Amino acid sequence: MTKTVVITGASAGIGSALAREFAARGYALGLTGRRLPALETLQAELQTQGAPRVEVATVDVDDRDAAPAQLKALFETLGGVDTVVINAGINDFTRVGAGDLAKEAAIINTNLLGAMVTANAAVEHFLQRGGGHIVGISSLASLQAIPRQAAYCASKAGLSMYLDALRTEHKDNNIRVTQIRPGFVKTEIMDDIEKYPFAVSAEKAAAEIAKAVQAEKRDVFVPAYPWNLMRPVFGRIPDRVWKRLAK
Ligand SMILES: NC(=O)c1ccc[n+]([C@@H]2O[C@H](COP(=O)([O-])OP(=O)(O)OC[C@H]3O[C@@H](n4cnc5c(N)ncnc54)[C@H](OP(=O)(O)O)[C@@H]3O)[C@@H](O)[C@H]2O)c1
Repeated sequence: MTKTVVITGASAGIGSALAREFAARGYALGLTGRRLPALETLQAELQTQGAPRVEVATVDVDDRDAAPAQLKALFETLGGVDTVVINAGINDFTRVGAGDLAKEAAIINTNLLGAMVTANAAVEHFLQRGGGHIVGISSLASLQAIPRQAAYCASKAGLSMYLDALRTEHKDNNIRVTQIRPGFVKTEIMDDIEKYPFAVSAEKAAAEIAKAVQAEKRDVFVPAYPWNLMRPVFGRIPDRVWKRLAK
C-alpha cells in the first residue's frame, strides 16, 4: 500500500529535497509551508515525474489558531497519513544582551512552539488512526552550544527533549518517533553555511533522512559520518573551536 508523508517547511531546502526523495521512494505527499507558489512549483515537478499523489497546503506553524485545522484538513484530504515530518524552521545570528530578544523569540516560536503545534496535530490524527510515525528535524545544535546561536540551540534542545518525552508518552499508542540531528546542510537557512565543517547538500541529507525514517531509527545524525563518531564529544568541544567557526 502507498505510504503517505506530510512535510512541514517543504517549500525550500531540506524539506523540498525530502519531498523529492520520498516521491522517488513511492510515497504520497502532503507538502506545507507559507509560500504557496514554491509548493505549487514543486508539486508540478513531482507530478510530471510520476509521483503517486502530491497535495499542497499553506500552513504557517507560527499561527497557533489556524495551523491545527489546516494540518487536520490536509491529513483528511490525503485520506490519512502514516508519517509527519516536523521540519519547518528558521535560524538567525543573535547575541545575548545585544537587543536581539525579538529575533530570539521568533526562533523559539517557529522551531519549538511551531514544532509542538505540528506534533499535537499529528498525534491527535495518529490516535484516531491507531498509530503513526513522527519525524522531528532537530539539529546537532541540540547537543552542542554554538556562540551567536543561543536561541537556536535552545529551540533545538527543547525540540529534542519534547520528541523524547512524546515517544515515551505514546509508546503504547503505536506512535513511533524518529529524531534527526543534521550537522550542516547547504540551504538558505544561513549565509555561508558551506564554511561549516562537513557541510553536505540538501539532497545528500534528504537521502540519509529518508533511509533513517524508513528504518524507523530512533535518533540519528546527518550526515552519519563523521557526526555519529563525534557524539560522545558534543558539549565537550573547546569553546574556542566553535567561537572561531561562528565569528
Ligand atoms: N541547513 C542546516 O544546516 C540545518 C542543520 C540542522 C537542522 N536544520 C533544520 O532543518 C530544517 C529545515 O531547514 P533548511 O536548512 O532546509 O532551511 P530553509 O532552506 O531555510 O527552509 C526552511 C523551511 O521552513 C519553512 N518555514 C520557516 N518558517 C515557517 C513557518 N513559520 N511556518 C511554516 N513553514 C516555515 C520555510 O518555508 P516558507 O518560508 O515557505 O514558510 C522553508 O520551507 C529546520 O528545522 C532547520 O532548523 C538545518
